[in-house]
Amino acid sequence: MNTIISPQEWPEPIVRVQSLSQTCTDSIPERYIKPLSDRPSSEADHVVDANIPIIDLSGLYGDPDARASTLRQISEACNEWGFFQIVNHGVSHELMDMARETWRQFFRLPLEVKQKYANSPKTYEGYGSRLGVEKGAILDWSDYYYLHYLPFSLKDHNKWPAHPPSCREVCDEYGRELVKLCGRLMKVLSINLGLEEDFLQKSFGGEDIGACLRVNFYPKCPRPELTLGLSSHSDPGGMTLLLSDDQVPGLQVRKGHNWITVKPVPHAFIVNIGDQIQVVSNANYKSVEHRVVVNSNKERVSLAFFYNPKSNIPIGPAKELVKPDKPALYTAMTFDEYRLFIRLRGPCGKSHVEALKSP
Ligand code: OGA
Ligand code: NI
Repeated sequence: MNTIISPQEWPEPIVRVQSLSQTCTDSIPERYIKPLSDRPSSEADHVVDANIPIIDLSGLYGDPDARASTLRQISEACNEWGFFQIVNHGVSHELMDMARETWRQFFRLPLEVKQKYANSPKTYEGYGSRLGVEKGAILDWSDYYYLHYLPFSLKDHNKWPAHPPSCREVCDEYGRELVKLCGRLMKVLSINLGLEEDFLQKSFGGEDIGACLRVNFYPKCPRPELTLGLSSHSDPGGMTLLLSDDQVPGLQVRKGHNWITVKPVPHAFIVNIGDQIQVVSNANYKSVEHRVVVNSNKERVSLAFFYNPKSNIPIGPAKELVKPDKPALYTAMTFDEYRLFIRLRGPCGKSHVEALKSP
């Protein structure tokens, strides 16, 4: 039994990166300067010009050939990349634009208004500026807002912004649509893994899955080459749907020793496999490291929607995917226990899921 619990308070006073961005014009505080090997232009890794696969989901509802071809494209993207963009996904473009715009407006509000929602490491809900609670840690150049949709018992409108006035309503609608879309993708992934179509959903707790939103705000940075907007990490949950800024790229995905800068397609969602699907699929699918770089002349907003297992059931490799030549690679753990890693230590590549490996 894991007895570590999240601390109630941050180890140091919180500084909003947005306010640093307004006061620092030609340098950044040391706390944000990454070691050489982690900087965007590190010698060890190269940024290459490529893009992750773009998949048209309308084929899923077309004739059998179109459906088979779409399933195959998703299967390849999961195997090869762990990351892909989807278009014709069924979510209204207007809703996507409204959701992003609502959050842009929220981050433009005066600091005092946003401070009312200041979060703590206990639940992370609200307005935040760091992940992890290690004193003296090097921080990322971003602020964020984190809120829960599901389970319903955790959803609390009082912890969502009251301004702009449309925020709660738009976020509600956005969450409902994305839960549905993730449900459809979970079926596709189950089928592609050779499982019953409701397998992944059931192993995540059926109706009782978790869903939450982190809105990332990356202010302008006078020295973008020295820092990161979000350090390299894999997403701890099941699956992520990212709505990127439509104007400003920044997300980079690891492919071997290279980093690929994602070129967002207008009104696409960027889908990625999280650690929990890696575990259930017994590493048939792998979560992939990604990070965010920042810019000197442009701020950036992104909405990351996380679809997660029910938090208190053990998540381990599916029996169906454990074979004599492929034994269970991971020890089962609840998502509540699992996410303590990232909540305490902040983003650290794929070290969390690696630590789950069976002895
Ligand atoms: C995340 C994430 C990427 C981005 O929130 O987990 O990876 O582009 N965000 O903001
Ligand atoms: Ni991520």
